[in-house]
Amino acid sequence: MLRTHNCGELNLNDTGKQVTLCGWLQKSRDLGGMNFVDLRDRYGITQLAFNMETNAALYEQARELGREYVIQVKGTVAERSNKNLKIPTGEIEILVSELNVLNPAKTPPFTIEENTDGGEELRMKYRYLDLRRQNVRKNFVLRHKLAIETRKYMDSIDFLEVETPVLIKSTPEGARDFVVPSRVHAGEFYALPQSPQTFKQLLMVSGFDKYYQIVKCFRDEDLRADRQPEFTQIDCEMSFVEREDILNTFEGLVKHLFKTVKDVELGELPRMTYTDAMKDYGSDKPDTRFGMKFKELNDLAQGKGFVVFDSVELVVGVNAEGCAEYSRKQIDELTDFVKRPQIGAKGLVYVKCNEDGSFKSSVDKFYSEEDLKAWAEKFDAKPGDLLLILAGETNHTRKALNELRLEMGTRLGLRNANVFSPLWVVDFPLLEWDEDSQRYFAMHHPFTSPVKEDLHLLETEPGKIRANAYDMVVNGVELGGGSIRIHNKETQAKMFDILGFSKEEAQEQFGFLMNAFEYGAPPHGGIAFGFDRLCAIFGGSDSIRDFIAFPKNNAGRDVMIDTPSMISEEQLKELSIQVEKDEKKPVNE
Ligand code: AMO
Repeated sequence: MLRTHNCGELNLNDTGKQVTLCGWLQKSRDLGGMNFVDLRDRYGITQLAFNMETNAALYEQARELGREYVIQVKGTVAERSNKNLKIPTGEIEILVSELNVLNPAKTPPFTIEENTDGGEELRMKYRYLDLRRQNVRKNFVLRHKLAIETRKYMDSIDFLEVETPVLIKSTPEGARDFVVPSRVHAGEFYALPQSPQTFKQLLMVSGFDKYYQIVKCFRDEDLRADRQPEFTQIDCEMSFVEREDILNTFEGLVKHLFKTVKDVELGELPRMTYTDAMKDYGSDKPDTRFGMKFKELNDLAQGKGFVVFDSVELVVGVNAEGCAEYSRKQIDELTDFVKRPQIGAKGLVYVKCNEDGSFKSSVDKFYSEEDLKAWAEKFDAKPGDLLLILAGETNHTRKALNELRLEMGTRLGLRNANVFSPLWVVDFPLLEWDEDSQRYFAMHHPFTSPVKEDLHLLETEPGKIRANAYDMVVNGVELGGGSIRIHNKETQAKMFDILGFSKEEAQEQFGFLMNAFEYGAPPHGGIAFGFDRLCAIFGGSDSIRDFIAFPKNNAGRDVMIDTPSMISEEQLKELSIQVEKDEKKPVNE
């Protein structure tokens, strides 16, 4: 070893010891006759002292060092006169007797400190330097801990970690596949897995009983703060289970992680049906750190001559407690917020519940004081509260009010990243009707089983069937989702039929699974958690990118290695992909 200790471990108990340290030069301060250097490695920072009086040559050598030089020093641990109690090594320094430059460094393009001067783009281009920053690196310590604790828990309850292939045939999970051309089989392609869904089901047919895997998945979909084209799942499947067993097992996992990694004791996780989630929060992933539940006002607000409300499917609002003092400008801001194209509300109605018990609203012309009082009662509003009301088509209006509720939650400081509010959302619809293509889509995926009581609706009213599916939601983030699966060939074939697959298409794409069902498939079900999202929630961040060592940017590019990129004409030829001579681009692009 080139060192005896790391930069995070020496303290007063080591005073007098001869030590050798290695690391990067974070910064140096020359006080004329004394030169102090902060030496950094993964474990921390240790101060080095070079004294002109004791060793002038060494002192001069230290003055020559630049930022981020990699150095090795030998010296004696000594108590510091000027202590820094904020760091574990802050009471000592090393009186250096020997200095070796292991590698000089160019001046980095941004400062390698907690508050760096580097912008996002620059930091991503030099991600290896960004990862030197302790506050970035700590996210990977957290990620590591979560992976270790996941494996410990899964192992303790007999789950086997099994790897599934990365070059596969496409699985329909709702996103586009990334595809890989085959050289050997000209004109044919592999797909990268959107998840190991079909493989884990096959492992159940194989009798593996309890499977899990911390696994990379790939989806060619639009990027967001909580979406990357390649991401990691904790993917799990179990045999001979019902929904209740899965919920209990994985509630156990989440509790274990919160306890061991965050020292947070979670109680029993509440459950909410999809229907209630949509009605009360306008979202299937409600942020339940705060109340502000929706209240529907159709019965009180319609039929009083206000056409905007009279003609719509739903009048619904929330109570922003303590916001009656909002100014005209603040209300206008909220109105603009809901009218943005992404949200698409036509307008916003407000009712201020004044401190003196009177009301002031944007619709005073149409509603009496008595009317507004009845509204306030419905919301349990107190003097000082502000009612914010939207109206329109049901789904659309709920979605818009969900955005407004979250915005108000943020404005009112009700979304504290150190508060955790997990829950299960259950009883999702099995199918979603798509107007454009005039067909049903599986809301979760086509392998999800209907709840038993609704099986009879398969032939008659498929749109009304509830799925035996569940999501785990934490702080408004969909952390994981899964379902009890279909394990019988006929039901699976029926499902493909409802989803618009012809018999041949179903056989061609999923014959392997349906055939396997004929060889003794046990009842089974499972779940997958978004591991990057789990890390982000534990780390109190909205962005999963901070928890991925080498993430893609918003345009799906890795700006460090500069990819996606063109490949050579020879490579394209070898893969039987035709190119236009001039353009060097695939013909079908
Ligand atoms: P689902 O598609 O719901 O289910 O994915 C499971 C979880 O994976 C996370 N996730 C993502 N994280 C980051 N970037 C993405 N692009 C991304 N997409 C999904 C989410 C999500 O809850 N095979 C099924 C699971 C099952 O039925 O067992 C599946 O993949 O946190």
